[in-house]
Amino acid sequence: MGTMQWLKHFEASALRERDVRWGGSLALDPSLVASLQTFQRGLTSPGVNLRTKVRRACTPEYARCIDLYVAEKAVHADLLMRLLWDAGSEPSKRQWTDFLFRHVRRRFDWARELVVILTVEMASSPFFRILANNVDDPTVRRVLELILEDQAYHLGFHIDHLREVMEGRTGLERLALQQLSGALFATTLSIVIADHRELFAALGYDKLKYWTDAWNLFAQVQTGLNGSQHLAAVLGRDPRLKFAL
Ligand SMILES: [Fe+2]
Repeated sequence: MGTMQWLKHFEASALRERDVRWGGSLALDPSLVASLQTFQRGLTSPGVNLRTKVRRACTPEYARCIDLYVAEKAVHADLLMRLLWDAGSEPSKRQWTDFLFRHVRRRFDWARELVVILTVEMASSPFFRILANNVDDPTVRRVLELILEDQAYHLGFHIDHLREVMEGRTGLERLALQQLSGALFATTLSIVIADHRELFAALGYDKLKYWTDAWNLFAQVQTGLNGSQHLAAVLGRDPRLKFAL
């Protein structure tokens, strides 16, 4: 999709009602509460730095998209905050991984900062999917489904714009960016797994499954950013590649 289409999408999405039946107090496992706190903190950002950089370097339409994208993340942070309140908890004020990511991001130009943001989107999507499918509480599931729906668009939005940026850069620079992204992704996943190990244990969920699914998503995103049209022909239609899920 082009930038104008994305703008329309985000404008419509901002107005969309995200209906959750808030039913009062929630009895959630402490490990789930801790995980929700981490992601709530990560989603809470006015994006001052990114929005300023984008305004300087990109079109006004794209800058507006980024404003709305950041605002949508704030909506997600709000939903998670309400879950935390209903669970008798509160959002956490400080979180070391969040602190680290914020500091890494700020040093980059807007495109590199977006690569970092995209990395976090790619790590969080399969994680939210695990929670949405495995947590018992219907309110938590509903909130996560709503976030996941938007999140899929976030990935598409970043791919659409970063692909253009990639095309304007040299082969060596693209390779360096992909390597940076891969290294950052491996680190991010390791942090997620270490940070949320108690939740993985509480859900009885195999961490390697999360790791593998996340890399699968990473590969798909890389195809969107740098890949050719041949991959579908090589993999998607090969009848020998069969597995049941
Ligand atoms: Fe997102």
